[in-house]
Amino acid sequence: DGYVVAVVGATGAVGQTMLEILDERKFPIADLIPVASSRSAGSVITFRGREYTVRDLETFDPAGVDIALFSAGGGTSLKHAPRFAEAGCYVVDNSSAWRMHEDICLVVPEVNPHALEMARVNRIIANPNCSTIQMVAALKPLHDVMPIRRIVVSTYQAVSGAGGRAIEELAKQTGQLLNGQPADVNVFPARIAFNVIPQIDLFMDDGYTKEERKMMDETRKIMEADIAVTATTVRVPVFYGHSESVNVTFSGPMDAAQARDLLAQADGISVVDDPAGEDYPLASEAAGTDPVWVGRIRDDFSYPNTINLWVVADNVRKGAALNAVQIAEILIS
Ligand code: A2P
Repeated sequence: DGYVVAVVGATGAVGQTMLEILDERKFPIADLIPVASSRSAGSVITFRGREYTVRDLETFDPAGVDIALFSAGGGTSLKHAPRFAEAGCYVVDNSSAWRMHEDICLVVPEVNPHALEMARVNRIIANPNCSTIQMVAALKPLHDVMPIRRIVVSTYQAVSGAGGRAIEELAKQTGQLLNGQPADVNVFPARIAFNVIPQIDLFMDDGYTKEERKMMDETRKIMEADIAVTATTVRVPVFYGHSESVNVTFSGPMDAAQARDLLAQADGISVVDDPAGEDYPLASEAAGTDPVWVGRIRDDFSYPNTINLWVVADNVRKGAALNAVQIAEILIS
């Protein structure tokens, strides 16, 4: 008993985690359909002890599918998500293709679940950018009490956000360098092992990268507020877990102590903030977990009503697969 669920991009870094999370959370599945490109069509994946054959998206007929979780790139979603939606299926799309479309909702369940109403008509729901998800999850409980005026964010993003080949690239380059060999650079614009790259996605004419633009635009759409946001997004040699330094200015009184109390009670947030014990969120500890971890909560003494936060989450789980499955859970409830 349950739903017919397709995972498009089932062989990828996010798709694999979607399968794990559907299983962990006991999502009611009557039939599972793994879908990917012709490259992996015909291969077999195991889910809940049963084997399923991967289908080729190009020739797959979505008739009868209730929910499709897409994580196979923007071009793939642009082309195929409408086909699934027209067949009557709900599509939760992890790519950036539909996020800023005015008729498509962009949802973080802890922040704006009401936006899902829009999906009853067009059946496509956009899953936000990974760095944006964890930031808005941490800021919404504060914004509800005192509206946010401005956000200045710098990110420290794991390679897994760029997919399976990017994970392999960090591992391979690390080995090469430790063995005195030159590093092969294929996926990232520069060597990522033992390095920090201030470019994620492509540059636009205004000097920002698309990743930075996503954080600025998506935050305003999800929070449904006219917040000034500026972002610097950076790739670091970490496998799993995005970290963020977030400076937040409120429109009225808010301080670190109140923010800490509010976050300690918030859904989906875990506060780890003990300077005396040298305890704070770490990507190494957030990896494999569900919460958004917040620490280093402190007043910014340089400006009124302003605080600093350190926000960490597993980018493949809360930043992608978990958020998508949580959306699917709301759709069936
Ligand atoms: P495939 O394994 O057949 O290439 P990652 O983000 O880890 O790189 O994974 C990308 C996922 O998206 C993989 O499952 C990949 O399938 C899938 N994918 C990429 N391009 C397409 C496409 N054109 N059609 C269907 N699936 C695609």
